Amino acid sequence: WTREERYKQTSDYSDNYLEELAKRVAQSPFRQNYHIQPNTGLLNDPNGFTYFDGKWHLFYQWFPMGAVHGLKHWYHLTSTDLVQWKEEGVALLPDTPYDSHGVYSGSGFVKDGQLHIMYTGNVRTEEWERVPNQIVARMEADGSFTKFLPPAIAGNPEGYTDHVRDPKVWEQHGIYYAVIGAQRTDETGTILMYRSADALDWELMGEVDAGLPDFGFMWECPDLFEIDGKTVLLFSPQGLEPEGDRYHNIFQTGYVIADDFRMDELKLEHEGFQELDAGFDFYATQTAESPDGRRILTAWMGLPEIAYPTDSEDWAHCLTLPRELSIKDGKLIQQPVRELVALRKKQALSESGLLSEAKRFERSGANCYELQLDVTFLASADHAPVTLDLCEDAVNDKHFRITLDPSAKKITIDRSQCGIPFAEDFGTTRTLSVEQMDAVKLQIFVDTSSIEIFVNDGEGTFTSRVFPEAGETGLSLVAGSTIDYRLKLWELA
Ligand code: FRU
Repeated sequence: WTREERYKQTSDYSDNYLEELAKRVAQSPFRQNYHIQPNTGLLNDPNGFTYFDGKWHLFYQWFPMGAVHGLKHWYHLTSTDLVQWKEEGVALLPDTPYDSHGVYSGSGFVKDGQLHIMYTGNVRTEEWERVPNQIVARMEADGSFTKFLPPAIAGNPEGYTDHVRDPKVWEQHGIYYAVIGAQRTDETGTILMYRSADALDWELMGEVDAGLPDFGFMWECPDLFEIDGKTVLLFSPQGLEPEGDRYHNIFQTGYVIADDFRMDELKLEHEGFQELDAGFDFYATQTAESPDGRRILTAWMGLPEIAYPTDSEDWAHCLTLPRELSIKDGKLIQQPVRELVALRKKQALSESGLLSEAKRFERSGANCYELQLDVTFLASADHAPVTLDLCEDAVNDKHFRITLDPSAKKITIDRSQCGIPFAEDFGTTRTLSVEQMDAVKLQIFVDTSSIEIFVNDGEGTFTSRVFPEAGETGLSLVAGSTIDYRLKLWELA
């Protein structure tokens, strides 16, 4: 793909090119069963996540033509339960001079009884210089979108480079606020905050002061919300160096939690930045509030600038399962939304007992299940690590391995022996420290090409893509010293 090809004009695929491509993509052995994925091309950030008029609206960044970051569109889905999603088709095309090189990320909000969106229109000049525009659009009764032009915020403010994007809008006491990811002219990342009385005419309030003056070169996809009276600032900083077990992916996503956030100071005092997910593939989160007051999060299960095995099949990536957020002991807790129990088709395994050796669980189904494993390390034992192998092919020594190490109080995942290797330059293991490890609880969602692990009711998570070869579907548990365990597995629809 040349640069020109990536930025092809949208009219180029009005023929049946995409239909043919979709047929080929559907043959891929790595298509997911219960995750949002593109029918062709590349999906990246979740966008416009909003509950409006009895339905969830969720969009994603989409380049239809192939697995590259080309000319971005917004693709639209709706749901009443966060489980079954209806495809609504393309919502926003890069079809104006203000978003000619991509309808980039943004968010949704409700104004005057209508769903609105604010997104970044990406423009490249003839000299290939970037111009970021923040544009508001409104969904009409027939589901089409009207863009309000010229842009609500055109170009980048003084003191910042042309990396200004991803507005997240909310309304508070009749005023609209937006946080927007930005890069200062000294090439450090930050977040700008704006306000508006009508969501069209915006005033720059200043930078959100998160007390992290030199923390990466760009902060993407900011989100600011309250849980239990505390303010959470969530964002995806680029340019952090690995530090112990943290920051091993190319780019990060994490948060700070503050007791207080005053609009006149825009200051967040907190105990430090915390990584949100310990897995390999997790980026560009977005949250929305549900009618019953829950804060729901979804993310791109992928990363920029990394080649994935399905690239050669002309499609790439999916979104994570939706998660409910809460705060406990100064940390964000993430749990799969309770609605997901609706995916359970049949319980295929329910086993428990004492174990001090290897045990293989007989199962025949595909990699499409939910697994719950509770392990208690018996006090009298010498606490050797326990390993759980998913996607196992014992004959060929293939597996995705989860190691629980109670003495080190660490959980490690290892995908080096699982299916098609990729992104190995960034390492093949990830480790999470766990505070309490006399007993560990795992809830795991395995789909054809992904594994999402929730540790101890969401105290930690590991989100990863995997590309197992045919036959890599086995499951076994190995205990080096005695454990008491309980394992349940449901095949998912
Ligand atoms: C994050 C991101 C956003 C941008 C979008 C473009 O993955 O780079 O900052 O708006 O993707 O697709």
